[in-house]
Amino acid sequence: MGQYLEQYKQSLDQPENFWAKAAEAIDWDQTWSNVLDDSQAPQYRWFAGAKLNTCYNAIDRHVANGRADQAALIYDSPVTGTKKTYSYQELLNEVSKLAGVLSSLGVTKGDRVLVYMPMIPEGVMAMLACARIGAIHSVVFGGFAANELATRINDAKPDVILSASCGIEGSRVIKYKPLLDGAIELSDHKPAYTVILQRPQEQAEMQDGRDVDWATAIANSTPVDCVSVDATDPLYILYTSGTTGQPKGVVRDNGGHAVAMMWTMKYLYNIEPGEVFWAASDIGWVVGHSYICYGPLLNGSTTVIFEGKPVGTPDPGAFWRVISEHKVASLFTAPTALRAIRKEDPDCLHLKKYDISCMRALFLAGERCDPDTLFWAQDNLQIPVVDHWWQTETGWAIASNCLGLEEFPVKPGSPTKPVPGYDVRFLGDAGEAVAAGEMGAIAIKLPLPPGTFPTLWQNEQRFRSSYLETFEGYYETGDAGYQDEDGYVYIMGRTDDVINVAGHRLSTGAMEEVIASHPDVAECAVIGVADNLKGQSPIGFAVLQSGAHRNDDDVAKELIALIREKIGPVAAFKVATVVKRLPKTRSGKILRGTMRSMADGVEHKVPATIDDPTTLGEITNNLKALGYPKSA
Ligand code: COA
Ligand code: AMP
Repeated sequence: MGQYLEQYKQSLDQPENFWAKAAEAIDWDQTWSNVLDDSQAPQYRWFAGAKLNTCYNAIDRHVANGRADQAALIYDSPVTGTKKTYSYQELLNEVSKLAGVLSSLGVTKGDRVLVYMPMIPEGVMAMLACARIGAIHSVVFGGFAANELATRINDAKPDVILSASCGIEGSRVIKYKPLLDGAIELSDHKPAYTVILQRPQEQAEMQDGRDVDWATAIANSTPVDCVSVDATDPLYILYTSGTTGQPKGVVRDNGGHAVAMMWTMKYLYNIEPGEVFWAASDIGWVVGHSYICYGPLLNGSTTVIFEGKPVGTPDPGAFWRVISEHKVASLFTAPTALRAIRKEDPDCLHLKKYDISCMRALFLAGERCDPDTLFWAQDNLQIPVVDHWWQTETGWAIASNCLGLEEFPVKPGSPTKPVPGYDVRFLGDAGEAVAAGEMGAIAIKLPLPPGTFPTLWQNEQRFRSSYLETFEGYYETGDAGYQDEDGYVYIMGRTDDVINVAGHRLSTGAMEEVIASHPDVAECAVIGVADNLKGQSPIGFAVLQSGAHRNDDDVAKELIALIREKIGPVAAFKVATVVKRLPKTRSGKILRGTMRSMADGVEHKVPATIDDPTTLGEITNNLKALGYPKSA
């Protein structure tokens, strides 16, 4: 039996032994009474009774064990022309001072702290400082607008918000403080304090009594030590898109998370302590949590914080420069980033300028890796290119080629096989297993492995109804796909309203809620259509109120502006059109799937249940006017 199969079988047959062994890689303050507490099933808890501190495991123990002078964090910011390396000792100094600031503002174990930061070292320090004192961080991606931020403030109810005066998008300075002030204004919950890092590019206006200057607070801070927390205590809440405008607060615990992160660094990514691992994502996304912040640091490796883009900062060679300059052993990015590089530099002329022989593997996630992008990367890099499938909910990969275990041949379009810990099943509508090669809903037999989410923040009911009720005894992933005869899985798309735009997870349902709030709109539909660069992009269709005598183009422009204002630029909502009627079934269900097929130019059958087939004519005409289908 190969290494993979042996480990995979063990993880499913004897999960407690498997994960107890993996847990030896973590320093515990107190051992567990139960590796897996299933007394409240279907709610499972890993390492119940154990105590630890995640920040201690990510920093202090490495300082104590001879890594004090090793680089922990490399900050590379082409947009500000800055490069800076922090050793583990320096990171410890900074994080314990920031933890001291939080403590002095009254933050204690279990309190929430919201982090709204650009890609600068202080963002990672903020997360670790929270972990140090047992506070629960909730990082919000910088591309979200005030309204989205307010929704998260209301749900997480943070006592303190850590933020910066601005982010930098290419050459544009994005002022964060007005967005933050707007969000606090909009939300019912008000944080007692905000701590604002003034960046040289923008001086934020401060509000007396509430806003604290980051640098002054650090200068006056008394460093604090780690607080021991329960393995089952939450480390963070990360909001992700669901089917409505109310995002889901995915909770991550401390113990299971630390164990899973360590296991993946070794067995999935094959990264040794001391090596450099770069996840070119953002701390606002789950990839940033797991593999910019926690995974590499728990492992005693070096992480890279890159404040830039794959293209335009300054050119499509940016990734290759960072790899060669900082001796990156593995890069983790989204296929969309490679497509952006390929579009500007198809022959990889920029790549040829750099020696990237240090790089052993490229990992891709966030969306399905299309075979063209895979071949391009394989041809040009001549190293293993690993597409791996995961979700905010799981926090780490569900399917992957586990390079630290056994490398399998790659099948284009497949993220290879289920990772140890995940009992992945492909189910039909009645919950029956479908045959190899047949499409099904993808579910994971409970319990999920350590490091996945035990619940949604203060919403166990939604946790159960969203994920556990469709297939009893299984976690419903929301993805559909199939498994071939060799056990390779293929992820073909979502079964819900979630779309993936440039590796960013977004909800068309949330966009529909915003469009429907426009006073002239009677009803609407938003669909995700195929996009050569971003994977998918949203298109909105709106029907106007009968009394609204408005110019269609004006309304379309207003809808685009409204989504940008309410959800944020990250929604990349650039196309809207007004129609007289939406195609529906006789029972009133909008035929979004049919509209999507029409926009994508793929063959589709008009459902027999359609109420009025003539509605499709107007959709076809409007799509044509907007340039869809692209392939036509
Ligand atoms: N703060 C503020 N605005 C942001 C932002 C942030 N952190 N991130 C994105 N935006 C803005 C962008 O500036 C853009 O604004 P615009 O409409 O005014 O131009 C908008 O949101 C859409 O952004 P995006 O979809 O990212 O498009 P882009 O053209 O700026 O970049 C890519 C395209 C492919 C280069 C970029 O999306 C990318 O690198 N994606 C990879 C994502 C990733 O790593 N995902 C994590 C999974 S591993
Ligand atoms: P997120 O929660 O933002 O990580 O998005 C998770 C969703 O992105 C999954 O449910 C999938 O739909 C999609 N996804 C992520 N990685 C992959 C992949 N490697 N292949 C196919 N889809 C993916």
